[in-house]
This record gives sequence, structure tokens and C-alpha cells, in this order.
Amino acid sequence: MTETMSPTITTIAEIGKHEGQPVTIRGWLYNLRESGKLLFPIFRDGSGQIQGVVPKNAVSPETFDALKGLTQESSVIVEGKVRADKRAPGGYELDVSNVQVLQKVSESDPYPITPKEHGVDFLMEHRHLWIRSPRQAAILRVRAEIIKAARDFFDDRGFTLTDPPILTPAACEGTTTLFPVDYFDEQAYLTQSGQLYIEATAMALGKVYSFGPTFRAEKSKTRRHLTEFWMVEPEVAYATLDDVMELSEGLITFIVKRCLEKRRADLQTIGRDIAKLEKIDMPFPRINYDEAVKMLQEGFAKGALENKFEWGGDLGSPDETYLSALFERPLMIHRYPAKVKAFYMEPDPQRPDLALCVDVLAPEGYGEIIGGSQRMASHELLLQRIHEHGLPEEAFKWYLDLRKFGSVPHGGFGMGIERAVAWIGGLEHVRETIPFPRTLHRLYP
Ligand code: 4AD
Ligand code: MG
Repeated sequence: MTETMSPTITTIAEIGKHEGQPVTIRGWLYNLRESGKLLFPIFRDGSGQIQGVVPKNAVSPETFDALKGLTQESSVIVEGKVRADKRAPGGYELDVSNVQVLQKVSESDPYPITPKEHGVDFLMEHRHLWIRSPRQAAILRVRAEIIKAARDFFDDRGFTLTDPPILTPAACEGTTTLFPVDYFDEQAYLTQSGQLYIEATAMALGKVYSFGPTFRAEKSKTRRHLTEFWMVEPEVAYATLDDVMELSEGLITFIVKRCLEKRRADLQTIGRDIAKLEKIDMPFPRINYDEAVKMLQEGFAKGALENKFEWGGDLGSPDETYLSALFERPLMIHRYPAKVKAFYMEPDPQRPDLALCVDVLAPEGYGEIIGGSQRMASHELLLQRIHEHGLPEEAFKWYLDLRKFGSVPHGGFGMGIERAVAWIGGLEHVRETIPFPRTLHRLYP
């Protein structure tokens, strides 16, 4: 008895391992070019794309007819022989021998996203389909690489991953951007940052980090703001502001190098100017807030900024864009006025009106990707700040406990994953950095 073996199932990314052999790939029809008795379908399977070659006289009539006129994004299982071709984008083509169409997309209700240009609103409304486009898929792979790199960085350096709660009783980053949630008979909020909780786990485990979703009811419609975003946050017992800055530049450099090593092809698909990323290395330039103000005022004098920046204010998006475009490496700005920063930051002992904090601005005008600080160690001062900020003391009782039972200097930072993806991918807007972005006016799909 003879058995017909069906060819090895593989992915397009792995197809080079099967040169000269018959394989099966399972995916979708991305595009189809027809020229008389020759069909050139392009298949995609999530791992990549490959062009098939289908001469009418080389395949069965069923196979030829199944492919002829086949609609974009119809699902297909394709058998064929792998052939090396130097001109092919991936280095290989498929001599198709058999095609099984699982579901044919209707001609009267065709796939809405064609290779032609579409407006952003249309694409956002079809985000569930848009992510199939090569560029969007490449962005999502870069995002996954950045997340993996961040976790590897901390895992390999003795940090313990500790997950903070998402439902919280109080604010971490100001009360104006809280998302309220009905929590039975209590008022709860979606977390703005895991920081307060990982300060507690840092006192238990020394070096910790969290990685999770965070929420801010941001009313701003900028290219940098989402209402739901992911943050990686390390927190270290006994760390000073200098330690926090060193850890920040270490993390960013590690992530960029990892992406260059593993995601170069995806970065090229996205259209990233890779030479700019190759310039990223330690140390990063460090300036204090006073120096930043001076540079902003010079920028205004030169006409590069619309508004004159006055000492004492927080940096706005145009200010960050201006400053970060002046450097080829990420810029660390430290010691902002305490008044414009969060309640939990340690004051600078030299100038108590300043906070021991740092913002890291990505180059090329991308602005803040990291915010961090040394945390306030004194129980008395922290309690005073909680009152000054109008925060409910009762909800912070546990947090104050950390200053009663073996308080130590400590610090950490948060890096927004989407901001990092936007910069590393060279993207104009954070909406493309996450599979399903949530913004002021978008909750669908
Ligand atoms: O500077 P932020 O507000 O700092 C904190 O939340 C601290 N508790 C973190 C810490 O020290 N553990 O936010 C940190 C980072 C920002 O630098 C930015 O990258 C990102 O989170 N981020 C946002 N990303 C997208 N959309 C928003 N609305 C964001 N708000 C902050
Ligand atoms: Mg910040």
C-alpha cells in the first residue's frame, strides 16, 4: 500500500530551510497579478510574504481556477516547491502545485483595505484588519521585541517581576487623569502607574519591576497620548537619582541594540532610518532643568519656538520636541521644580524647591519616553505632600507605612512602551504602536 505524504507544513519565515522541497504554507492571499496563462499570487501567513508562480499548463485546472480571480485576503492552504530566487524580496519563490481555498472573500463585499492609500480615520476604524498590512505587522513585531528586551534586561540583572494591581483606591500621577470604576460600594480607579505598589515590593525584594497596562483619562489629542498604555517600571531599594539615570540609559541602549540585532528587516519594512538608531549608545547627555530652560529661551530667541519658556513651568510637547531634536542620543533632564512634578519625589537637598527626578527625551523630536525619580524617604514630609496635593490620607496609609518600617532612599522610573515603539520605529503617532489603541475619541474596534 502506498501512502501519499502531504508536504511539510512550514511558515514563510522558515521557508529557506526547505529549498528545493515541497512544502505546505497556510495563510491568506495578499495580492494577485494575472498575465494570461500565468498567475503570480502573493501569499502571506503572518511570518512573511512569498510570491507564487502558477503557469496554467503546470497545474491542475482546479488549482488554476481556484486561484484565478481569487479575492484579496481569502484564506488558503498552498502546496508548492521552494525555489531560491535572488530577485525575490525574501529570496525565495513558490512553484505552486495545489491550492485549497478555505474561505473566499466575496467579490461583492471585498476586503476594505487595498494596497492603495487610505485615510487614517478609515484605517483606525478597520484596525482589526489594518494590522494585517506588512508595515503594521512589522511594527507589532518590533513592539514585541522591545517588550522582550525590557524584560530580559531586568530578569538578567537580578530584578524580580512583581505585578501591581490594576484596580486601585487612589491616584499616583495626579487626580485629573483618573478613570473611575464602580467597585461594589467603593470608589476605585484604574491604575495610572504601578509605582507606589512596587515601592512596597522593592522593600521586600530589593530590585523589582512591573510590566503592565496603565490608564490615564487624557483629554489631550496629541500624537504621544493614549488613554491605555503599557509601562515597564523598575524600582530599586537604596537607589539614588544617579542610579536611576544610569539604569534608564542602560535599558534604552540595550533595547535599541536588541532591535537592531533581531528586527532590522522589520525596521526596514517600516521605513526607519537605521543609521540614527546605530548612534544610540551610553552615556546619554545630562542637563538639569535650569540648563533646559536656558536652551528653550535661546530657541525662542531664534524663532524656533512659539512661546517663551519661563522658569518654573513644566515642559510642553513643543518644548520637548525642540530639545530632543538637538541631540542624537536620548537627553536626560533632571531636577525639575518640585511644583510641576508628582507628590512622591525626594527634594534636592541642595535646593529643596527642586525634585530629584529625571525625564528622558528620545531624540528626533520624540519627547519623553521615561519619567523617574528618587522617592521621598521621610514619613513627615511625605504626609505633608499628600495633604498639599489634596490626596486622601486614608488611602495612602499603607504607602506611608513604607516610611515607618525601615525607610531607605529608593527610586525607579517608568518607560512607556508605546512611546519607545514610536521612537524606535520612527512612527509619527503612538496609535500605530499598539494593536488596539485607546484614545480620547476611540474605543472601537
Ligand atoms: O512620567 P510618568 O507619568 O511617570 C510615572 O507614571 C511614574 N510613576 C513612573 C515611575 O517612576 N515608576 O509616566 C512614565 C512614562 C512616560 O515617560 C511616557 O513614556 C509614558 O509613561 N506615558 C504615556 N504613554 C502614552 N500615553 C500616555 N498618556 C502616557 N503617559 C505617560
Ligand atoms: Mg512624566
